[in-house]
Amino acid sequence: MVGFGGMLSMDSLAELVKSVSDVPSALMAGDEDFWASVRKGYKLKPDYINLENGYYNFLPEQVLEKFIGHVREINYQGSYYMRTVQAENKKSIAAKLAAIAGCSPDEIIITRNTTESLDMVIGGVDWKPGDEAVMAEQDYGAMLEMFKQVSKRYGVINKQVSVPNHPGSDEEIVNLYASAITDKTKLLMVSHMINITGQILPIQKIADAAHERGVQVLVDGAHSFAHFKFNIPDLHCDYFGSSLHKWLSAPLGSGILYVKKEKIRNIWPLFAEGERKTDDISRLNHTGTHPVHTDLAISDAIDFYHTLGAETKEARLRFLQHYWTSKVRDHPNVLLNTPADAARYCGIANVGIRGIKPSDLADILFGKYKIYTAPVDGAGVHGCRITPNIYTTTAELDVLVNALTELK
Ligand SMILES: Cc1ncc(COP(=O)(O)O)c(C=O)c1O
Repeated sequence: MVGFGGMLSMDSLAELVKSVSDVPSALMAGDEDFWASVRKGYKLKPDYINLENGYYNFLPEQVLEKFIGHVREINYQGSYYMRTVQAENKKSIAAKLAAIAGCSPDEIIITRNTTESLDMVIGGVDWKPGDEAVMAEQDYGAMLEMFKQVSKRYGVINKQVSVPNHPGSDEEIVNLYASAITDKTKLLMVSHMINITGQILPIQKIADAAHERGVQVLVDGAHSFAHFKFNIPDLHCDYFGSSLHKWLSAPLGSGILYVKKEKIRNIWPLFAEGERKTDDISRLNHTGTHPVHTDLAISDAIDFYHTLGAETKEARLRFLQHYWTSKVRDHPNVLLNTPADAARYCGIANVGIRGIKPSDLADILFGKYKIYTAPVDGAGVHGCRITPNIYTTTAELDVLVNALTELK
């Protein structure tokens, strides 16, 4: 398919997508010409191949331009904007996010990131001494630290499980979490997609097992939201947090918190709110004055996401991961730390080389092959996390495959 030449405006991108609307997403996933057109929307550093998009999926130019426009407009409007339509706009953008999440607009708020969302829940539960919490050693460090803090502060006992890199079945993982639950367990936190390996966990089954024992479930969805398609209520969790500057490609410092309607009253807000009803989720959203132009640009990031199509995006990310992992999985020196079962992965994977420390591997990949990755060395995972984005080409991944197969 012939590209348009130059960066595509959002409208031209929509036209391009429309022109291939009858092609199934699975086929579009590997259409390098189509993705070369999408890639033109990204200003990429020529110095290296960026395979570390998991931290921050920087904005395509189409969204960046809108964001800059919002910064200018808010600076022009000043307090007038803040005192008139600020809250209304934020609410309507939260409703657009609710539509992606498949939940009610009354169950979602815009936060600054996953850390704020999850720590608000971990810190906001009405803990009593001796209460227990369950989490995994593969969970993100900031949340593990927050659990340590509530342990010191309220006498909560934390039980950590360790998720295998290559589980045999969903039941194995469900049993692992279920076996850590006791009569004292109040909250179970679980990652939807483990950030260091990209493994997707069977959240609905874990949540059902926890609920059978009366335990509330908090999901760390930092890497799942707008990466692959799902509805939050289908996960059967009580709380879910994500960062929009990750897979939605919204500006830095944007996230969501979902709280199931009947659980809103259970959480003490981090920032006190006196006026709202206990079941009003905006009670948890009193952050004070913040960069409201970021809120506005979330709406543009959503438009970009819908213009491309959620299925097409997911299919591309899955295709890219499978493209390189399938070429190295059976290589004798290569250790893949991400399951081969397609139900347990999407765009992210982690790879090690026998006999090479992850930090050395990252240095070699960067120094010799000009590939930027993130090393991981702990919680049973030893390798580099590889996170392509939709603009990544198969030619770039061939450089990675070549590097991994020649390294010893
Ligand atoms: C699984 C997971 N949870 C939470 C976070 C924290 O995200 P943020 O720094 O955007 O709050 C990250 C960040 O990489 C993550 O990977």
